[in-house]
Amino acid sequence: MKAIVWTKYGPPNVLQLRDVERPVPKANEVLVKVYATTVNRTDVAFMRAKPFIARFFTGLLSPKFTSLGNEFAGQIEAVGINVKSFKVGDKVFGYNDKIFGAHAQFMVTPEEGMLAVMPADTSYEEAAPSTEGAHYALNNIRKADIQSGQSILINGATGAIGSAAVQLVKYFNAEVTAVCDTKNLELVRSLGADQVIDYTNEDFTKNGKTYDVVFDAVGKSSFGRCKPLLKPGGIYVSTELGFLAQNPLLALWTSIFGSKKVIFPIPKSLKADAIFFRELIEAGKYKPIIDRTYPLEQIVEATRYVETGQKTGNVVITVDHDDEA
Ligand SMILES: NC(=O)c1ccc[n+]([C@@H]2O[C@H](COP(=O)([O-])OP(=O)(O)OC[C@H]3O[C@@H](n4cnc5c(N)ncnc54)[C@H](OP(=O)(O)O)[C@@H]3O)[C@@H](O)[C@H]2O)c1
Repeated sequence: MKAIVWTKYGPPNVLQLRDVERPVPKANEVLVKVYATTVNRTDVAFMRAKPFIARFFTGLLSPKFTSLGNEFAGQIEAVGINVKSFKVGDKVFGYNDKIFGAHAQFMVTPEEGMLAVMPADTSYEEAAPSTEGAHYALNNIRKADIQSGQSILINGATGAIGSAAVQLVKYFNAEVTAVCDTKNLELVRSLGADQVIDYTNEDFTKNGKTYDVVFDAVGKSSFGRCKPLLKPGGIYVSTELGFLAQNPLLALWTSIFGSKKVIFPIPKSLKADAIFFRELIEAGKYKPIIDRTYPLEQIVEATRYVETGQKTGNVVITVDHDDEA
């Protein structure tokens, strides 16, 4: 099969298109014929092993997995002997950041991982980008215990995580103030934001308003700058470690001292969440934003674009199977 092989940490040109053996599912795994995947910030963090801690998951000196790619949509091609809930031919989508492997014509993934039947009336290209950003957003929303009627400021509302967060926070009936660039104000409103702040015209930390939660989905602020924006008992959450890894440290400190808290949840990828995202998509409550689409052969160009940190939502990769007999 064709796969984008990754043998050393580094810039996008470490990714190479090669012919490799098709993986064989273990007893509890399914083999997915991948039709669409994505390049996202999780891929690029692991590709470069930045932050260094990524090496503890994917190999200290060099990557121990063949291919990157954590989101996918495709068709079940084969199932392991213990698999009960999927059968050959099922259209599925999901997320795997344990062994990756979606940047290939075929990948294996566990039956009990974040894997579900695809939403009805959805293409592979629409289903593939619906899990990575959304699962980070959902993990933070849950840990912040966002409740109906609360006010939430989301910085970086146009990223994969931010654009999912706006929609999910609205689903949970909280009020969203979204911070984004001028060109995306209408997009963010269309996702449900109640108020928008154009970060090119206004510093959101200085407008005098206060919130129950400040969710920095792009990791460009700090607890120090955002603390005055928090109501008493308010929560600050960021998707980045922050300067000198301050966010996890502040999460520990503020869990004991002070009324305003920092949280830094370790994300979980649950099967139930893939099912939840499918239900939201089918109900029209969540739609992943697609910025650009590239074929698998152009993964280096796609990855360079993702590394700019300026994609709007998601970058999809299509995988063809024309070369198969
Ligand atoms: N370590 C990991 O494994 C990991 C995994 C996932 C995510 N993350 C982190 O989580 C963050 C978000 O990820 P993502 O995938 O959602 O990012 P993304 O899709 O790359 O999006 C970043 C978005 O933020 C906007 N933006 C850039 N600068 C901004 C600023 N100063 N203020 C407000 N918005 C700004 C960009 O739009 P404009 O340029 O138009 O403003 C872009 O739409 C990233 O920092 C990423 O590194 C880390």
